[in-house]
Amino acid sequence: MNQQRIVLAGATGNLGGRIAWALQQRGASVRAIVRPGTDAERLNKLQQQQMEIVEADLNAHADIVRACEGASCVVSALLGLHKTLVDAQGALLDAAVEAGVPRFIPSDYAMDFNKVEPGLNRNFDLHREFKVRLDRAPIRSTSVLNGAFMNLLTGEAPLVLFKLRRVLYWGQGPHQLLDFTTMDDTAAYTAEAALDTEAPPVLRIAGEQISAAGLAAVASEVVGRPFRLLRGGSLRRLQRIIGMTRALTPNSEAPFPVWQGMQYLYCMFEGSGLLTPLDNQRYPNLRWTGVRTVLQAGRVNVV
Ligand SMILES: NC(=O)c1ccc[n+]([C@@H]2O[C@H](COP(=O)([O-])OP(=O)(O)OC[C@H]3O[C@@H](n4cnc5c(N)ncnc54)[C@H](OP(=O)(O)O)[C@@H]3O)[C@@H](O)[C@H]2O)c1
Repeated sequence: MNQQRIVLAGATGNLGGRIAWALQQRGASVRAIVRPGTDAERLNKLQQQQMEIVEADLNAHADIVRACEGASCVVSALLGLHKTLVDAQGALLDAAVEAGVPRFIPSDYAMDFNKVEPGLNRNFDLHREFKVRLDRAPIRSTSVLNGAFMNLLTGEAPLVLFKLRRVLYWGQGPHQLLDFTTMDDTAAYTAEAALDTEAPPVLRIAGEQISAAGLAAVASEVVGRPFRLLRGGSLRRLQRIIGMTRALTPNSEAPFPVWQGMQYLYCMFEGSGLLTPLDNQRYPNLRWTGVRTVLQAGRVNVV
């Protein structure tokens, strides 16, 4: 069991809640910073998990410095646009540095955005902007890169089209490898990384690397009927559709409007952000969930 104290921002969120649980499973003491005004039911849930809760605005510098004191690592699982990913996460970083915390894990959890051309993905540009700030800060950091959340394959990601029995792909051919990791596996790995004082600046993981052709084969086996491939068009065509959709979408603070999901797809099929080499084996006790398991579990809701 590990007695380190980890400060976590974003514990009320989807990934953050799982990271908190994974840290506690490993014996860490978790101090969660939540927004003032977080409703009682959500707070209760965290309290029942024996987590220490600090209700504070991330921009309230003195409060956040105090919250960070004694931590061996600050983990961020924040989600938002510039105000959150750069400004609020930046304020958290400054507080961690001032409190003398040795390590910081930013809210990255994506494909390798460092290799994706700037401008191709709005959210990746924000991660990249924060990274510049993080790299300048006197603190060691570890960025966890996991590709797309595998859970999206039976949710929002328009790839495995169960009702049509098609797998959609874009670009030249259906053999471009794509990275997928479940949220639980990402959380477990992040917890290991948070407790690993020797963790390097970047850790790349994938529960499975699989192409559209591979997805079609697995979906066919899982459903017991053949899934065919459906080509959406060239990447240039996808780029045009993204441009039109973006132009027609009112500006909002939503982190994942439809056009941003399309930008993610573009980057997956364009391939430059593919994760390599993988660091899955760094924590050999972890077991990885594959696409077959996720499609099998999720198909009841979608077939
Ligand atoms: N690779 C993928 O396919 C994929 C998909 C989805 C997400 N992600 C990544 O996973 C990470 C977490 O996403 P998620 O889906 O878990 O998000 P989520 O469920 O929306 O949770 C976001 C968390 O951030 C907190 N937060 C947002 N803005 C804040 C602010 N200004 N001050 C303080 N707290 C704030 C929220 O607090 P409240 O509860 O108070 O709102 C919540 O705890 C992000 O890095 C995201 O990009 C990756």
